[in-house]
Amino acid sequence: MQRETAEPRVEQLPGPKASQWVDFHRQSSAPSTYVYDFVWDITKDAEGPFCTDADGNVLLDFTSHVAAAPLGYNNPKIVDKLHEFDIVDPLKIAGQDFYVSTGGTPDETDVPGPAHLMDKLTEITSHYDMDTVFLSNSGAEAVENAIKICYDNCELPKYGITFEGAFHGRTLGALSLNRSKSVHRRKFPELSGIHDVPYSVEGVERLRKKLDSKHGHIPAEQVGFIILEPVQGEGGYQVPDPQFMRELDELATEHDIPVIADEIQSGVGRTGEMWAVDHYDLDPDVITSAKALRVGATISSMDIFPEEKSRLSSTWGAGDILSSIQGTLTLAAIEEHDLLSHAEQKGERLLGQLRDLQERHEDAVVDARGLGLMVAIEFDTKERRDVVVDEALKRGLLTLGCGKKALRLLPPLDVRDRELDIAVELLDDSITAA
Ligand SMILES: Cc1ncc(COP(=O)(O)O)c(C=O)c1O
Repeated sequence: MQRETAEPRVEQLPGPKASQWVDFHRQSSAPSTYVYDFVWDITKDAEGPFCTDADGNVLLDFTSHVAAAPLGYNNPKIVDKLHEFDIVDPLKIAGQDFYVSTGGTPDETDVPGPAHLMDKLTEITSHYDMDTVFLSNSGAEAVENAIKICYDNCELPKYGITFEGAFHGRTLGALSLNRSKSVHRRKFPELSGIHDVPYSVEGVERLRKKLDSKHGHIPAEQVGFIILEPVQGEGGYQVPDPQFMRELDELATEHDIPVIADEIQSGVGRTGEMWAVDHYDLDPDVITSAKALRVGATISSMDIFPEEKSRLSSTWGAGDILSSIQGTLTLAAIEEHDLLSHAEQKGERLLGQLRDLQERHEDAVVDARGLGLMVAIEFDTKERRDVVVDEALKRGLLTLGCGKKALRLLPPLDVRDRELDIAVELLDDSITAA
């Protein structure tokens, strides 16, 4: 497959082999977020956003595995290095405080592992005075550790603040912060004292009233954290008003409440800045990352992290050597190939194309929005959105739903004009068909 000439090509989807794999997988897999019967064949050709499924269909993947494959398939920057790496076993070890070398010396190594990843993360968060990292396995764990360090840092932690439309993960602590869909929380015991406000200037106003020392009902000194996604993901690719972010920053500073920026979907270059919060006048105290980083990371300053031994730990904290190498190489590729400005430019181009689509299908598409390569179109109904996702798949374009009736697109950060044009044309046809 040549990325320059590859085209989506679908005969039947799911084809017979994909159906076989789906049946086999579901025999033992717990029901989860089943989206569609797309079965990537890892032994076949894949390059950039193009991949081949179990039946030989060629697909244009504009989901980047929900941002977890930020450089698409088989990016040479990553795979060439991995081929060089003489694989050892175990590659997932007890890491965070059981130091491991990845060969050579820290200054001269061919295989930059967890310590390099943490070092790089402090470099790219130094403008927020962050100098300390706890690595984990997933986004939810990164969030759990973020709220733990904030609670620990608060004298009498009783409250936490989240936003309408938020999504922060599925573990019990993280899901207590979710406000996007009721299915995430229903019947599960939750953290107490979590309050939500609208993701807008009005939300900050409400929070201001709640925290007011005379008339409010939440003592500010008992609020462990305010957590927000700098662009909401699962909640529908909502891009916040800069004034909202500015006022939130002022309020948090006034009351000395730490702000956690959950960058698990929006971070690592997705929006055209390394962190989506970099677009705004808001200084977070903690950043959570995962997905594109290939491991979970809770990043903050040493002042906020507890010093006490065993407050934080995990067998695989900083122990996933392979994923840490991938994460480090991903950050290096973003820098080397200037993918932040690339994502910004291609994102603007794509958003322009989607706005044209909105005009052409004004009866069906009610909004087009996004930041960098985190873009979405909103439909008039959920049913129509679902049909468009299916129709796009039939034509070889992988997309995902988000929010109640939006469709999200997250192409690889190095996406090319030709690929954007193919995707938009397929989407156009899919909307017409729907
Ligand atoms: C903003 C945000 N936070 C947290 C998570 C949870 O990450 P994970 O699925 O790796 O636990 C997600 C996952 O979609 C996310 O988008």
